[in-house]
Amino acid sequence: MKKTNIFLTGFSGTGKSTVGRHLAKMLGWTFVDTDMCIEKEKDTSISNIFEELGEKEFRKIESAIIEKVCSSQYQVVATGGGLVISEKNRKLMGQNGIIVCLEARFNTLLTRLGGTSLNPQTKEVRPLLESSDLESKIIDLKSKRQSVYSMSDYTVHTDDLAINEVSTIIYRNWRHFQKKNILYSSWDVASLVNTPETIYPICVGWGILDTISEKINSMTNNSVVYLVTDSGANKYARRVQAELESARIRTHLFVMESGEKHKTLNTVSMIYDWLAELKAERSHIVMAIGGGVVGDLAGFVAATYLRGVKFIQVPTTLLAIMDSSIGGKTGVDLDRGKNLVGAFYQPEFVLSDVEALTTLPQRQLISGWAEALKHGLIKDEGLIDEFEKNVKNVLNLDKEITTELIKRSLNIKAKVVSSDEHELLGTRIMLNYGHTIGHAIETAGKYEKLLHGEAVSIGMMAAGYISNALGILTSSQFERQKGLLEMYGLPIKVEGINLTDVKNAMLLDKKTLDGSIRWVLLDKIGHSIVKNDVPEKLISEALGSVII
Ligand SMILES: NC(=O)c1ccc[n+]([C@@H]2O[C@H](COP(=O)([O-])OP(=O)(O)OC[C@H]3O[C@@H](n4cnc5c(N)ncnc54)[C@H](O)[C@@H]3O)[C@@H](O)[C@H]2O)c1
Ligand SMILES: [Zn+2]
Repeated sequence: MKKTNIFLTGFSGTGKSTVGRHLAKMLGWTFVDTDMCIEKEKDTSISNIFEELGEKEFRKIESAIIEKVCSSQYQVVATGGGLVISEKNRKLMGQNGIIVCLEARFNTLLTRLGGTSLNPQTKEVRPLLESSDLESKIIDLKSKRQSVYSMSDYTVHTDDLAINEVSTIIYRNWRHFQKKNILYSSWDVASLVNTPETIYPICVGWGILDTISEKINSMTNNSVVYLVTDSGANKYARRVQAELESARIRTHLFVMESGEKHKTLNTVSMIYDWLAELKAERSHIVMAIGGGVVGDLAGFVAATYLRGVKFIQVPTTLLAIMDSSIGGKTGVDLDRGKNLVGAFYQPEFVLSDVEALTTLPQRQLISGWAEALKHGLIKDEGLIDEFEKNVKNVLNLDKEITTELIKRSLNIKAKVVSSDEHELLGTRIMLNYGHTIGHAIETAGKYEKLLHGEAVSIGMMAAGYISNALGILTSSQFERQKGLLEMYGLPIKVEGINLTDVKNAMLLDKKTLDGSIRWVLLDKIGHSIVKNDVPEKLISEALGSVII
């Protein structure tokens, strides 16, 4: 579908109106500013509407305006900073155009909004920002909205860019988006990952492995595919190999031993030798078929061999479909720690065949659901409703329902990753809900006691405990999370793990800022926030509540 509107979202001060006006002129499109439409229609200022009718009424007027705007085409629309909070508004805009989020660092916003009086002429007063303490107001309001801003199709970091540069980036991306949309229109695309360098699709379906050769053929000619798999996923690799060969695509297959202990530089080196012997070229493709171990390792090989060859991910575990195949993190372990060597490297596409899950051991499957539930817990209450309603069907891998819920859940990861590919903005960190304590428990258990998702489930209970104790999450919402995890057969406590080992492992965790841990907490089911200052006593209490 052609998407012929560009909606600009983002916090006040990110330049939506200025950029929007410039971009519309550049494209010869109409410029629309939703705030100005509202002021015109109500014949009064936004501040007055807020004062006289309140925010709720303002949001209603805003929704009516965006509905009207969406009936036209070829517009650049600057939307009010809070318009995207409503899921209905977001959906409508998504159907009628692409949603581009303009971002700016805190100091840039403060300057642009006049808080430092460095630049008084740019001072722009928004009703929700009218405060004597503008700094904390910006931090507070932006952190509340960050989660919805990150659901945009594309994010532009505007800090060091001139207006025309921002416009050009948006235009280039829009063109790229249109082209890819046409190319992918017949693919089972669940989501597009959209980074500054590339756009790639995540295709999800039941029994779609045999569509892989047509996808490769529409992308490139005369390529050679180097399949990397492990013993557990070998049967799927064989199937893909037969499919590719029948479409006259040349293949070679490398079967590594399965298991985390083989995610090493030694295995990488064996694959380098194999590629060199086969005279692999830069235009050739490395394809990972398997779980997260194969995906991480083959991705690292693809990122580094000849300084980067094409890469395709075919994840076959639920964890890999839901998590490790999305976002471009590749790497291997060293003796001293997990994932210590790696690279960000995005694939050409990800093809996830949900049918592969039918052969996955039950414990692996349940562990994978933890990540899927996590996405709902941090961002989408509606998804949690569905997971609760359909628990039996999901656990029995009902074809339609499972595929649908997997698509919806991984779309959240894809959107978050698109908005913050390299973890610069602090948005991607939300995906770490349950992981601070989860990782530490995994480490303390020497990666033998618990699977990753099981540790994350326990970690989410600890983070939920902290959220509840701080008065951010109500007890009934906390209970709801507990019920959900139990429904899916996930553990909520662990025994036989040394508490001191867990604490030490937490201190070593890399997701820290200036030495202090950044906690991802829930303020309700379907919404997360980040907090740095959680008292140590409370952390100990939370650990005590899950480690018995
Ligand atoms: N890159 C990322 O962003 C990211 C995110 C999360 C986890 N990870 C990494 O992912 C790895 C864990 O991945 P995993 O849980 O998929 O484990 P895994 O890759 O070890 O797979 C688990 C087991 O299942 C087997 N298997 C794979 N597909 C199968 C199928 N369809 N049917 C039957 N058996 C099958 C494998 O052979 C293996 O024995 C870890 O190394 C972790 O660090 C990476
Ligand atoms: Zn995880």
